[in-house]
Amino acid sequence: MDKILVLDFGGQYNQLIARRVRAEHVFAEIKPYNRISADEAKEYKGIIFTGGPNSVYDALSPHIDGKMLELGIPVLGICYGHQLMAFTKGGKIGPAEGGSEYGKTEIFACDNVLFGNVPPKSVCWMSHTDCVKELPAGFSVIAHTDKCACAAMCDEKNKLYGVQFHPEVTHTEYGKQILRNFIFDICDCSADWKMEDFIKDSVEKYKKELAGKKVLLALSGGVDSSVAAVLLHKAVGNNLSCVFVDHGLLRKDEGDYVESTLGKELGLNVIRVNAKDRFLGKLGGVTEPEQKRKIIGEEFIRVFEDEAKKLGKTDILAQGTIYPDVIESGKGDSATIKSHHNVGGLPSVMAFEGIAEPLRTLFKDEVREVGEKLGIPHDLVWRQPFPGPGLAVRVIGEITEEKLDILREADAIFREELDKCRNDSPCSQYFAVLTDTRSVGVMGDARTYGYTVALRAVTTDDFMTAEWARLPFELLEKASGRITNEVKGITRVVYDVTSKPPATVEWE
Ligand code: XMP
Repeated sequence: MDKILVLDFGGQYNQLIARRVRAEHVFAEIKPYNRISADEAKEYKGIIFTGGPNSVYDALSPHIDGKMLELGIPVLGICYGHQLMAFTKGGKIGPAEGGSEYGKTEIFACDNVLFGNVPPKSVCWMSHTDCVKELPAGFSVIAHTDKCACAAMCDEKNKLYGVQFHPEVTHTEYGKQILRNFIFDICDCSADWKMEDFIKDSVEKYKKELAGKKVLLALSGGVDSSVAAVLLHKAVGNNLSCVFVDHGLLRKDEGDYVESTLGKELGLNVIRVNAKDRFLGKLGGVTEPEQKRKIIGEEFIRVFEDEAKKLGKTDILAQGTIYPDVIESGKGDSATIKSHHNVGGLPSVMAFEGIAEPLRTLFKDEVREVGEKLGIPHDLVWRQPFPGPGLAVRVIGEITEEKLDILREADAIFREELDKCRNDSPCSQYFAVLTDTRSVGVMGDARTYGYTVALRAVTTDDFMTAEWARLPFELLEKASGRITNEVKGITRVVYDVTSKPPATVEWE
């Protein structure tokens, strides 16, 4: 199987590069720049140097062994990787004369194999201050922009290519084509990698790594933890125990659905723990969203630890963390937006020997593909995502049982109505939020005073950005009518028309 090595220099799009390569059915493996020798890199058909936040002249900036560029293996440098390639080969880097370039930029490309099937003028995504000022010997410029004289370069003889822009982001019009040209026309890879290979490799890897170990999986019943559970079950069989914490913050009837689908249908060892009182006790009086998340994250782990004790010796904690959770929780260089409970809220002292996160490098659509291939029921695989902290981040302000019950009913009605016309109104996620605002209403001849419920529906590919869904008025009218009639305690229904950014999908 042909493999591409993605050498990581700390850029924010590194996983995206690997994902784009995988989407072409070529396996891509990400390694930190300093964890692989030139000798070890020989097994790859091509190498991609990622972007990164540094300048090559910073004392602490990452550098590579020059031999990496002399293996005869094609290399594509992206952004910092492009500058590093030029620098390592003896070129000069400096601030771009026209100033930094950020965002969509017009690019003019020459006739070159890297730009095969790319028009001479197109749009690329730039994000840089430095640029290549002097080319190394043997290189020539193959693209430029108004501000950047060397937007792409190559040493065709040695198959070394560099691009200042980011071909991996969708804003680069022909980014996919450029990566395809590199993978297939320059590296000569065969498109023979399939998601089944990811499954096979992961199962083999965990069979070895977790041999003889007892694994405890944090099962939320969402797509991610369910897929992680089934995958690990293939590797360790009955050594896997799935602890499903019913924290009292689940949607209507959700606990029973999870228990029966994963336990009875898929044959996993599911232990349902009823911990509602424990969680609601800890959350009493708490209104601050990050505090709620941290409390829930910590309590989750404490419940697991207690459960682990009951089960006897447990070595490994397994989780359904996926790649967007890792980025948004501020691991690496990105800023913390929310502490996703399965990453950020993890207490540092844990009574486990290690953590297994088999889906950590995958995006949501890839996780769903894995789920389908593993034979998980379609309904479960295509369930909309549900946050680990559950309804706690959808009840704004203090959480009480009464508020949770009101929200559960309103949410079930909205989802039921939307499900009826999902083909006409495709959404990625849709739910109700119980706001902390009460307002006056009138029912019959009497004055009412109750909660305002907000309906939220978004469309998105990867949940990093999202658009509010343009739902038909008739649907909103039906949902609003049913909610105010059927759910006691609600006088008003509003629809959230904010995209992400500037808002997030969840309200807290
Ligand atoms: P936000 O609100 O960050 O949500 O725009 C993006 C996606 O992530 C889900 N989400 C979470 N998932 N643990 C999770 O597993 C969490 O703590 C969490 N918070 C948000 C959210 O439902 C949406 O799909």
